[in-house]
Amino acid sequence: MHSITGERPPTGYRHTWAEISLEAIASNTRLFKSSLGGHAALMAVVKANGYGHGAAEAARAALNAGADRLGVAILDEAVQLRSASIGHPVLVLGYTPPDSVRAAIDNEADLTVFSDDVLEEIVRQTETLRKRVRIHLKIDTGMNRIGLSDPDAVLALARRAMLARFVELEGVFTHFADADGEDPAYTWRQFRTFQSVIRLLEQNGIQIPLKHCCNSAATMRYPSMHLDMVRVGIALYGLHPSSHTRLPAYPLQQAMQLKSRIADLRRSPEGRPVGYGCTFVPERDSLIAAIPIGYADGLSRQLSNKGVALVQGVRVPFAGRVCMDQTMLDVTIAPYAEVGDEVTLFGTSGNESIAIDEVAALANTINYEVVCAVGSRVPRIYTGETGSM
Ligand SMILES: Cc1ncc(COP(=O)(O)O)c(C=O)c1O
Repeated sequence: MHSITGERPPTGYRHTWAEISLEAIASNTRLFKSSLGGHAALMAVVKANGYGHGAAEAARAALNAGADRLGVAILDEAVQLRSASIGHPVLVLGYTPPDSVRAAIDNEADLTVFSDDVLEEIVRQTETLRKRVRIHLKIDTGMNRIGLSDPDAVLALARRAMLARFVELEGVFTHFADADGEDPAYTWRQFRTFQSVIRLLEQNGIQIPLKHCCNSAATMRYPSMHLDMVRVGIALYGLHPSSHTRLPAYPLQQAMQLKSRIADLRRSPEGRPVGYGCTFVPERDSLIAAIPIGYADGLSRQLSNKGVALVQGVRVPFAGRVCMDQTMLDVTIAPYAEVGDEVTLFGTSGNESIAIDEVAALANTINYEVVCAVGSRVPRIYTGETGSM
């Protein structure tokens, strides 16, 4: 027999959680809004569960702070936003196959188009349903991923879209491969290619209202490339795409902290190994803490014997391998640590902080991956007031 014994604590039964500051997302959004000065619209990119922060919550925070519309990678994510009663325009930035076009129309998602078969299916479905759909053409100017790179093919697709009664050709866009890299040359080359495609369309009488190419890095570094709209993702969550975007005009606030609590503490004498593979062998009598978070929660196994955490405001090293559900810390330098103490994997504790960038460097990856990896079994706790929608 099961009995209901009470409400699940917001931090989960095991006390491991991600704390998300909606005020940080709102503040970062306002920073971009004011730097755009009303010249370009702001698309908040909330794909991949809002880069791990929660798609609907991040979307509401950004929209309440002035973002104009939303961007996601796949149609499923747009449907999720509609289920959360978010009615703003949502552009699916990736590929939507023909057999998903009907669902896109039903959910009023805007679609990225770069192939005849998808456009033909959009035309067919919109005629049948007598419902309008907005589309954005994707131009590949040098990323070599998705999109059209032949200008004549772009023109042909645009002409076909213009002829369709229920299709609104609202946008045309490209994506930069190296906007966060040191050398601006490749980004300028892509921008010039994009401009030449736009000129070709205009010379043929096709004016498209939303021309856009900037991600976070390009938005911060290249104001002359803003055009009609910018698509900002990582920076809204308070993270810089690279060191090259750390400009005084963009004092971003990191929105996510990752926390847990000590589950067990033990004295481990010199020489007694800790964890799988016996890879950590204390060189002195040590105090070892176990915390209930592991690589299944997105704490990279790359952090084995390399990561750091904060306990009682003190930096302590990971001891041994990160396990699937647990991780051990050498807390010898925090001798008053107790079971139940809060542990910060990234974020702030007392006067100490661990930046997500620092974790990314230790795990040999980028900050994008660190936040996106935080798993679905880690509850998100939201702080900060963002107004109502
Ligand atoms: C097409 C497109 N636009 C915009 C973005 C946002 O990029 P960032 O998170 O670097 O701002 C992405 C993310 O990868 C993207 O794929």
